[in-house]
Amino acid sequence: NGHMISTIGKSTNIMWHESSVGKLERQKLLQQKGCVIWITGLSGSGKSTVACALSRGLHYRGKLCYILDGDNVRHGLNRDLTFKAEDRAENIRRIGEVAKLFADAGVICVASVISPYRRDRDACRALLPEGNFVEVFMDIPLKVCEARDPKGLYKLARAGKIKGGITVSVLCLNKVLTWSLHSAGFTGIDDPYEPPLNSEIVLRQKGGVCASPSDMAEEVISYLEEVGYLQ
Ligand code: PPS
Repeated sequence: NGHMISTIGKSTNIMWHESSVGKLERQKLLQQKGCVIWITGLSGSGKSTVACALSRGLHYRGKLCYILDGDNVRHGLNRDLTFKAEDRAENIRRIGEVAKLFADAGVICVASVISPYRRDRDACRALLPEGNFVEVFMDIPLKVCEARDPKGLYKLARAGKIKGGITVSVLCLNKVLTWSLHSAGFTGIDDPYEPPLNSEIVLRQKGGVCASPSDMAEEVISYLEEVGYLQ
């Protein structure tokens, strides 16, 4: 209820203020509808490259868009977060909330984040009105991503050099038992990636060959045209 003083999360005594300029008025001014295009997939699957090609294509069609890239957002807003599960969840929650604000502002917001856990992605979807969240799954096999290894991170992960967190070892009955607390493994190697079950778009290899990033971006653009985002 817009007129109630309420408690939301850890914020007490807060009240929602309606904006003086409405969403429809912004849409009219910009001649476009805002939405979120959420690109998820393994590191090295091509999320950022497709996001760039997509935003180029949209810009060319006269649409205002903005990329929220996981790596980049971790340079600022999310610099306090690690790669342990609860921090990844918080990373995705914040990016989802920011993407929602962009969409509300009338911008086509392209989020490009591993977002490995289904529950976190679905929570971002639930923030937006039906149809305004378009999930794009970069369904590229791990072995292809690992062969690309553009940042050399898979190599480090395989060498066991990416695990963060705290390791605890105890000697018990002459055996050393080791636990990893807050383990922050590398996605696909020692941290899970849960593929989407119902994404709007799946970008995958055809006949063992990957389409070019611009062809993949065109697939997304065709979808947006079909559902009426690019009139
Ligand atoms: S997440 O899982 O959604 O919170 O990750 P994200 O914010 O998208 O950041 C992914 C980029 O961070 C680098 N990186 C790692 N990725 C996965 N696991 C671990 N442990 C890790 N450590 C650093 C990596 O470069 C990711 O970039 P991309 O563009 O996906 O390759």
